[in-house]
Amino acid sequence: MEAVVIPCTRQRRFLSTWSEEWDRLSNGMLSKIANFSDFPEKLYETRVLYPTSDEAPYRIILVNMGKEEEIDREKIRGAFSRALQFARNLKVKSAQIELSYDYKGVSKEEVMQCAVEGAILGHYRFLPYKTSEDELTPDVQEITIGEPDKASYEKMKRRLRETLTICESVIFARDLISAPGNEMTPTILAEKAKEIAKRSERVKCRVLDRAEIRKLGMNAFLGVAQGSHEPPKFIILEYQGAKKSQPPIVLVGKGLTFDSGGISLKPAEKMEEMKSDMSGAAAVLGAIRAIADLKLPVNCVGLIAATENLPGGSALKPGDILKSYSGKTIEVINTDAEGRLTLADALSYGTTYEPAAIVDIATLTGACIVALGEQLIGLMGNDEELKTKVKNAGEETGEFVWELPLWEHYEELIKSDVADIKNTGGRPAGTITAGLFLQKFVKNYPWVHLDIAGSAWQTKDRPYIPKGAAGIGVRLLVRFIRKFIPQ
Ligand code: BES
Ligand code: MN
Ligand code: ZN
Repeated sequence: MEAVVIPCTRQRRFLSTWSEEWDRLSNGMLSKIANFSDFPEKLYETRVLYPTSDEAPYRIILVNMGKEEEIDREKIRGAFSRALQFARNLKVKSAQIELSYDYKGVSKEEVMQCAVEGAILGHYRFLPYKTSEDELTPDVQEITIGEPDKASYEKMKRRLRETLTICESVIFARDLISAPGNEMTPTILAEKAKEIAKRSERVKCRVLDRAEIRKLGMNAFLGVAQGSHEPPKFIILEYQGAKKSQPPIVLVGKGLTFDSGGISLKPAEKMEEMKSDMSGAAAVLGAIRAIADLKLPVNCVGLIAATENLPGGSALKPGDILKSYSGKTIEVINTDAEGRLTLADALSYGTTYEPAAIVDIATLTGACIVALGEQLIGLMGNDEELKTKVKNAGEETGEFVWELPLWEHYEELIKSDVADIKNTGGRPAGTITAGLFLQKFVKNYPWVHLDIAGSAWQTKDRPYIPKGAAGIGVRLLVRFIRKFIPQ
């Protein structure tokens, strides 16, 4: 072991079951720094100590977790993320992390889960296209967790395995999102879905091509796809973990592998970030991958209408009218409001499962970034119980959601003069009118819509989400789905 990571608090206390032991082994280095001005006082601040005694590890890394009474799940994740990033900068290969288990309202397993999530997710980098290795410091290879209590060892180990499974799926999602549009086409995305099905007997994958999509009458989806030479794919993943008769939870992910806006072309600035317009799809794939690995006793279906949105000679035009899978006609006002066209058909298809719940997750509106910023997920829905489940899952995972109203008086904004509905209601309440549009396609099934336009792609480093693809939604959806398992 090359280092031990010990969290400390604003009150200059060390949060380790063995802090007295570490102090003794290091010949009093901990009690010494606790009295010095060098103590890491601010949240997430780090220090390294080099004990000379042979019994102590080569390094002690201290990380501040803030005021003791304010420690929560997010601070645990953030602190261990920062500590392990710091260890990597020191070229540490193996570290032991120290946990103290007495935070209010958070169980011991949960504390461990948060620490491990922080350590792993904060360490993420997207490297397949870096050909020169000199600028890279190798990752920390091995993390050990001190568990003083023999009785809870098995329980902790089980929880640790689950946590690793979930983190792996978050990283899987981040990798899909980070991949550039030329290497993450609808066809490649469909291949990734098939790979998930290969991992487990319980998962079946079907991919519909353009002809099959046309036969079903998904013309809203096809309208978006018609400007691109990349063939669209309708991806269906079915996970069966409970009796066949049990109605499934349907997850729908927006799968625009690139969104240029189409004929209503986006400005060039930051357009490259639109490779992340399949973050909803990545979240759905990641979640199903995780629940399959965890063998959760639920039934769950993932649906993705995957396509590019490009301006071509045969592209969709403003004014065009599309007849959706549901039969409803849609007037296209702005071809950049393409997500809701693809989701409309995927959501209606989802209702054919007579599901227990439908959740869609989508980088849907720039307006959501204006309203809620880069951290919060916009939530809308037609069912209080379902919304509460998602909100609670958000609090528990740190993938926080904030509700916006599906205010019926704004339905007027998306009334069309010529068709049943139009695809934009202008700038005011842009996130809400998008939600109202989707609502038309879910019949009366309990449904929640998550707008992740802001939270999917981070423009700055966050405590445990490095700049770029966040893989947001994977942990939220898994946690949400668990709430359907009878206790
Ligand atoms: N994918 C975008 C939304 C988006 C924008 C996500 C920025 C992440 C960052 C979506 O397809 C879109 O273009 N929406 C339009 C809708 C408008 C034309 C009604 C938007 O928000 O501008
Ligand atoms: Mn768009
Ligand atoms: Zn889009």
